[in-house]
Amino acid sequence: MEQSNTLLDVKKLEVSYGHVDALKGVDVTVNQGEIVVLIGANGAGKTTLLDTILGINTPRSGSIQYNGTDITGRSADINVREGLTIVPEGRGVFTSMTVTDNLLLGAHHNMHESSDKIERVYQWFPILKERSDQMAGTLSGGERQMLAIGRALMSAPRIILVDEPSIGLAPIIVNNIIEILVNLNKEGYTILLSEQNAYKALKIAHRGYVLETGQVVLSGTAEELLEDPAVKDAYLGA
Ligand SMILES: Nc1ncnc2c1ncn2[C@@H]1O[C@H](COP(=O)(O)OP(=O)(O)OP(=O)(O)O)[C@@H](O)[C@H]1O
Ligand SMILES: [Mg+2]
Repeated sequence: MEQSNTLLDVKKLEVSYGHVDALKGVDVTVNQGEIVVLIGANGAGKTTLLDTILGINTPRSGSIQYNGTDITGRSADINVREGLTIVPEGRGVFTSMTVTDNLLLGAHHNMHESSDKIERVYQWFPILKERSDQMAGTLSGGERQMLAIGRALMSAPRIILVDEPSIGLAPIIVNNIIEILVNLNKEGYTILLSEQNAYKALKIAHRGYVLETGQVVLSGTAEELLEDPAVKDAYLGA
């Protein structure tokens, strides 16, 4: 039997794009309250895994259990209502809409108390409140990432899938974003994070998985992975 605190349980997941096998039997679990990191180079399958968990992609085989329910092949729309959400690769904010309207989009599944939810997001990210009427396209990269995270929070999620939040950001801004993820986790959000910035991600994660060409080649606690010679060699620049 599974542990009772397993929130997400991915088993033998296979995903193909035409003849490209992007995931070749991936097993990943995320327990309630954890930060779990997916490490992997370009093309390893990180985005494919996160998108398939959310329901944007349909797997060829394998299963996804969320909170004890089989959600394999269930639409993203339903999954978001049920507490899964994604902060997509590249952030995916709508540049010609205001900050506020971008946030409201994140609540479109349930507009109930949306102004309270926006105020809550503005407490997390005061800079977004200052920019609330600005077009998202005028935001800095770090502010856009905050907006993307804020938009995800608008659906009142239980688990947040975060796809390479640090990409293209200056180191000091990366540290801000990482700190935000830690604080969200302390508030009770469970986080599955994909990151090429393996060192910083492992420093805040509880556990991690290393993906290579669609397969998990290594997994363990963050401490174990930080000390692993193969991880050091390939991902920590040591
Ligand atoms: N829409 C698509 N059509 C065809 N092949 C795709 C598609 N999306 C991804 N792939 C392929 O699937 C594999 C996994 O890609 P994926 O985007 O999941 O990797 P990733 O780990 O997120 O990489 P990155 O770090 O560059 O974002 C790659 O070989 C990629 O070329
Ligand atoms: Mg990706």
